Amino acid sequence: MAQEEDIFKKLISHSKEYGFVFPSSEIYDGLGAVYDYGQNGVELKNNIKKYWWDSMTLLNENVVGIDSAIFMHPTVWKASGHVDAFNDPLIDNKDSKKRYRADVLIEEQITKYDDKINKEVEKAAKRFGEAFDEQKFRETHPRVLEYQAKREKLHHRFAKALNDNDLNELRQIILDYEIVCPISGTCNWTEVRQFNLMFATEIGSTADGAMKVYLRPETAQGIFVNFLNVQKSGRMKIPFGIAQIGKAFRNEIVARQFVFRMREFEQMEMQFFVRPGEELKWFEQWKQIRMRWHKALGLGDRKYRFHDHDKLAHYANAATDIEFEMPFGFKEVEGIHSRTDFDLRSHEKYSGKKIQYFDPELNQSYIPYVIETSIGVDRMFLSVLSAAYTEETLDDGETRVVLKLPPALAPVKLAVLPLVKKDGLPEKAREIIENLKFDFQCQYDEKDSIGKRYRRQDAIGTPYCITIDHDTLNDQCVTIRYRDTMEQERAPIDRLEEIIRDKVSLKNILKKIAES
Ligand code: GAP
Repeated sequence: MAQEEDIFKKLISHSKEYGFVFPSSEIYDGLGAVYDYGQNGVELKNNIKKYWWDSMTLLNENVVGIDSAIFMHPTVWKASGHVDAFNDPLIDNKDSKKRYRADVLIEEQITKYDDKINKEVEKAAKRFGEAFDEQKFRETHPRVLEYQAKREKLHHRFAKALNDNDLNELRQIILDYEIVCPISGTCNWTEVRQFNLMFATEIGSTADGAMKVYLRPETAQGIFVNFLNVQKSGRMKIPFGIAQIGKAFRNEIVARQFVFRMREFEQMEMQFFVRPGEELKWFEQWKQIRMRWHKALGLGDRKYRFHDHDKLAHYANAATDIEFEMPFGFKEVEGIHSRTDFDLRSHEKYSGKKIQYFDPELNQSYIPYVIETSIGVDRMFLSVLSAAYTEETLDDGETRVVLKLPPALAPVKLAVLPLVKKDGLPEKAREIIENLKFDFQCQYDEKDSIGKRYRRQDAIGTPYCITIDHDTLNDQCVTIRYRDTMEQERAPIDRLEEIIRDKVSLKNILKKIAES
């Protein structure tokens, strides 16, 4: 674990050093849990967004996009339940004066049992080698069974407390399991209180007073309130989906783990409207589609798992998370919810406007049910970056840090490097960029040795370096150097566009999703 934490720290400093992520307002010592994306970060983020957007709107004839405003009428948040129920249970340690989320403290305790079980499994796997039967070991080993039973007991008690909204019981669990504050090391806890996560501000300043509005805590409501607008103007037939990418804001209490939990972040959400009664079938289908989307990037299938919810949100009748193995363990990257007709029904009630769909096949009107897929751009960014970050020792004993990003997501697709700064090589390199810059994000670099330049490109994940040497001027060929294998290949300049296009295209990844 210590080694993973170490890697995570290195990843954070690498992100800053190479222009991916900067702390917000850094010259004023930063602002908690708010980050800015730098020149490489924004390209990577835009590529992730494009991958998601295209997978939704190109691969599905019946999914269209919108871009709704961040500010919404305040009654939206009353109808959605966020004013009354969008809370986190907070607890303070009286000695350190630090504030925590009670549910997170307990979840961390549950993870400790998982860690203990995994350690037993790892030890046994080493001892038994090839002959090791992991499943049998997990099912029979007395210590694993003991940890498993303890885990289940705590988990059951925790899930019940959450479902009953029993704040006293949450506190009692923390006391019974002697969960201490990591700063003070004591169990001197306050009561658990609910804390609403929405940021409020005011619109207008008329004599009648200003109107209190919220910064949206999710983009989904912008889709719900536009359901009829899109359905009618697009003549959409159920089942159909509406997708949106945009900022969301939450006054997170436990704001740590870099861009994993931010106060201002971005979501990619899709609401899929279906006939009542068919929602669980679609829920299953979208679960599979979304998992395929993740795995198609090739970051490693074993890094993903589903995690079904213990406590269903106030609007859901089924929910799962797609978790990714971050440097600090498996964590939620995407939520998939069967939201019933809760939101549309509630907006109908609060607005007094009929929000129904006439189904010509059934010859009846109804409020559609909804399957939601909701993924955080920043969490996706972190999962891609952490899977890509690699420290390697090369054959000659040198080390390199390389971001093995999927080429389609890499911020810079190719770097064009003249071997020397003279003899017409820089001019030739510029000429190549002039031709390729319309299709790909290119970089020109002539400073330092070619080895140093390769390392700089490795560090930002550039998949292809194109080297121009003296032979290039005669044979019109260049050397392509591949980031991951470091192999080199000679190729004619006039084939570069075609070679690189195929390697960096999102199309090949999208095809994998469509074909499976
Ligand atoms: N509309 C449903 C919804 O908002 P959620 O599970 O609260 O559901 C969906 O959020 C996704 O948004 C999460 O899976 C996560 O990727 C991202 N997300 C939520 N809170 C976040 C935060 N504070 N910082 C970064 N990403 C966050």
